[in-house]
Amino acid sequence: SYSGALTGRKIVVTAGPTHEPIDPVRYIANRSSGKQGFAIAEALARLGAEVTLVAGPVTLPTPPAVKRVDVESAREMQAAVERALPADAAIMVAAVADWHVDAAGQKIKKQPDGTPPALALVQNPDILAGLARSARRPRLVIGFAAETNDVIAYAQAKLTSKGCDWIVANDVSGDVMGGDSNSIHLVTRDGVEDWPNLPKQAVAEQLAARIADALSEPR
Ligand code: C5P
Repeated sequence: SYSGALTGRKIVVTAGPTHEPIDPVRYIANRSSGKQGFAIAEALARLGAEVTLVAGPVTLPTPPAVKRVDVESAREMQAAVERALPADAAIMVAAVADWHVDAAGQKIKKQPDGTPPALALVQNPDILAGLARSARRPRLVIGFAAETNDVIAYAQAKLTSKGCDWIVANDVSGDVMGGDSNSIHLVTRDGVEDWPNLPKQAVAEQLAARIADALSEPR
């Protein structure tokens, strides 16, 4: 049994989308329900881990025994992840917006002639890649990759480009977004595991068990 297998381990999980403000009333965002990330945080806590869940704007309840930090933007998410360190593992499930805009302090007015405002997009920090390369890198760094096609090839490329240990590759060509089940491939340097389509809660439980196994191996 895995009961207590993560006792004493500190784990940070990101989940949900980020919202990047355009002005006080508008934002740009990625699509994410947060369900998979919240389920992972819950499963890790159930095995005894001390979990910090850095959550973008979602309406989900906080899982039992999880420390939740709510953030809005990618830059806030990165700062909250850094404050949660040191950690034994990091699971970055959030759908982080790739860009932000330099937000206006006041609501942008519509022009009478219909001319839309020009939004200059600025690249956001890659929280996962930054953490994987930092001096405070957790022992196990796990990323997610949502893809509609060439899922495994993209995931393997991402493993290298992000410098993480595992990529959970998520086939979102079907009915995954906002749904309750997930088709994943676990991509590590040793190979690829194809998991059956499972409820997000089952994906979370199996992933938590694998994380417990990995952290129990001698370094
Ligand atoms: O590059 P891409 O967005 O496809 O990578 C997805 C993975 O990288 C996810 O684990 C996501 O949480 C993480 N990510 C991040 N910061 C970003 C973009 C993605 O942590 N700015």
